[in-house]
Amino acid sequence: MKEDIATYTTKIKKLHSIMDMIENVIQVNELDDIITEILKAGREVMRADSSSLWLIDKDKKELYLKVFLGKDNQIKKRISVKLGGIVGMVAETGEPVIINDPKSHPCYDPEINGNGGKESFCVACVPLKAVCEKEFFDQPGKSNQQKIIGVMMAHDRHDRPFNNDDLENLNAFARLTAVNIQKRIMYDKLRSMFFDTIMTLSEAIDSKHNFTRGHSRKVAEISSLIQELIHPDKRMKELILVAALLHDVGKLYSDDNIVKKPGKLNKDEYEHIKKHPVDSFKILESITHLKQMLPGILYHHERWDGKGYPRGLKGQEIPAMARIISVADAFDAMTSERPHRSKMSIDNAIDELKEHSGTQFDPDIIEVLILANESGLLNGGK
Ligand SMILES: [Fe+2]
Repeated sequence: MKEDIATYTTKIKKLHSIMDMIENVIQVNELDDIITEILKAGREVMRADSSSLWLIDKDKKELYLKVFLGKDNQIKKRISVKLGGIVGMVAETGEPVIINDPKSHPCYDPEINGNGGKESFCVACVPLKAVCEKEFFDQPGKSNQQKIIGVMMAHDRHDRPFNNDDLENLNAFARLTAVNIQKRIMYDKLRSMFFDTIMTLSEAIDSKHNFTRGHSRKVAEISSLIQELIHPDKRMKELILVAALLHDVGKLYSDDNIVKKPGKLNKDEYEHIKKHPVDSFKILESITHLKQMLPGILYHHERWDGKGYPRGLKGQEIPAMARIISVADAFDAMTSERPHRSKMSIDNAIDELKEHSGTQFDPDIIEVLILANESGLLNGGK
């Protein structure tokens, strides 16, 4: 068990550094706004009627319109083109082009190269190049390979056709855009690694009880559903999701024989198990990015009437996140199969929770769970 704990602690420490990296690129959440601003600036500098950004969809082998900025309009709907055409040609060859008589070009397509429905009399088009994702993550020392991720385009100049200076300008805007998109790719990758690691830990916690496979995931799903119904805030939903996935991580310190014991625990065994919220807190407290989730984890066994543990907090003294996890935890325990008893139906479990509303559980949260059940939202994980 000591080896297990060391392994898990190391994993958690790794998480810390991953989250640090995420913090450094967090601003990429506003990617669409950033791209729009860059396109606007590009359009102004080049004195173009419009500008557009196309990204490659590798799976579909096509390019899709990410943002189009016309004189008076902005198109954000998904328009896709197969490789071919002027846009596709630049994506394939990686070579910037100026075409001052696009209608006579063999790759001209009025749908794609037109200016918001009007026909263009000139276009400038450059590739968007980013460091290869694999190189970026697996071989940071050798990150000089680039791949083409899309194309930036300017359509129609007011006074004269585009020239090489325009192409250089457009290239600069394309590089700026590629850097921001690359940040986004990195952020998504890190985020996925973070959740994969959290899920692995969560499964390790549940494997301590050979009869509660998937328990933490289900508690997380129910907790985030309740959170969303109370206050649909994306950040809060994510916080409670992670807190619920890790709420029993302290059980990795607990005695296997007690954790896996079917049926009632004696007094000493119960006292031993009661240590797990504090142990969870100790395991996770050094991880800066998990600090906001700690109250949900430390206090998930507190009771509304003050008779819970570890501190005997009462009512609103108990952090909201912990009150939600407490209800979700009890609901999933009751509606899951256990060796010593059959699982309850959802309606019976709700009735049981109602009986303890105002004593063990926050009555408002029980009301939200009832509402979720009446709306048919509780059947997904069962
Ligand atoms: Fe617990």
